[in-house]
Amino acid sequence: MRIGILGTGNLAVALGKVWAAAGHDIFVAGRSSDNATKVAGEFAGTPIDAAGLAAKAEVVVVAVAWEGLENILSLAGAPQGSLAGKTVIDCTNAVDFSTGRLKLESGSAAEFVASLAPGAHVVKALHLFAGTSWQGSGGGPKPTVAICGDDADALSTTSDLIRDLGGATATVGGLSSARQLEEAAGFVMRLVAAGHNPRSAVPDVRLG
Ligand SMILES: NC(=O)c1ccc[n+]([C@@H]2O[C@H](COP(=O)([O-])OP(=O)(O)OC[C@H]3O[C@@H](n4cnc5c(N)ncnc54)[C@H](OP(=O)(O)O)[C@@H]3O)[C@@H](O)[C@H]2O)c1
Repeated sequence: MRIGILGTGNLAVALGKVWAAAGHDIFVAGRSSDNATKVAGEFAGTPIDAAGLAAKAEVVVVAVAWEGLENILSLAGAPQGSLAGKTVIDCTNAVDFSTGRLKLESGSAAEFVASLAPGAHVVKALHLFAGTSWQGSGGGPKPTVAICGDDADALSTTSDLIRDLGGATATVGGLSSARQLEEAAGFVMRLVAAGHNPRSAVPDVRLG
């Protein structure tokens, strides 16, 4: 699959490496073409500008800092409809990392992406686990990635790509559920900042 990653930071590198190893074609764009070239070089991906990425990619992964979201989507031509009909996976965290609080008073980063990308099939996913989680589980249990979105095909495509990372997915609802998933990341960050393993702070519910 042709995957376009908008972002040239740590998450772009981590996801790009694993998806490239799984046989996908990865395009990388950011606000800096030098950084895109550097990141793409880590996994034989293709550096490109954001508008070119929007045209080429079948799936677009948004992996920039919250502060860069509007800028990168604008560079990609999203407000003009360049992402219409495409699966767009939003990985961003609009979180104050010192407190774990969401920076948005209401709604979610994923719904903000949808508002800036008319016609795109936005899925919230991959914002909770560190990118380094996908470098091999050593045979342990697969991480379950909670995802949400309004388009069945986009959810299915996202699940396939998460399977290629080594994870399983749980679809928790439509895009209006994104705030809950984003709050969950803030909750986890707050626990970690307080010195707790988040796994110890949720019930261990045995099913079946
Ligand atoms: N790292 C992880 O393991 C991880 C896991 C899950 C979710 N996330 C989320 O994924 C996103 C990226 O995380 P990261 O760790 O890759 O961050 P990072 O290494 O700090 O990289 C930040 C990225 O955002 C871009 N950026 C910042 N301000 C921008 C602006 N005004 N306009 C355009 N681009 C801008 C940076 O561009 P430059 O390269 O030009 O500075 C860079 O590509 C964040 O929202 C983060 O919360 C990260």
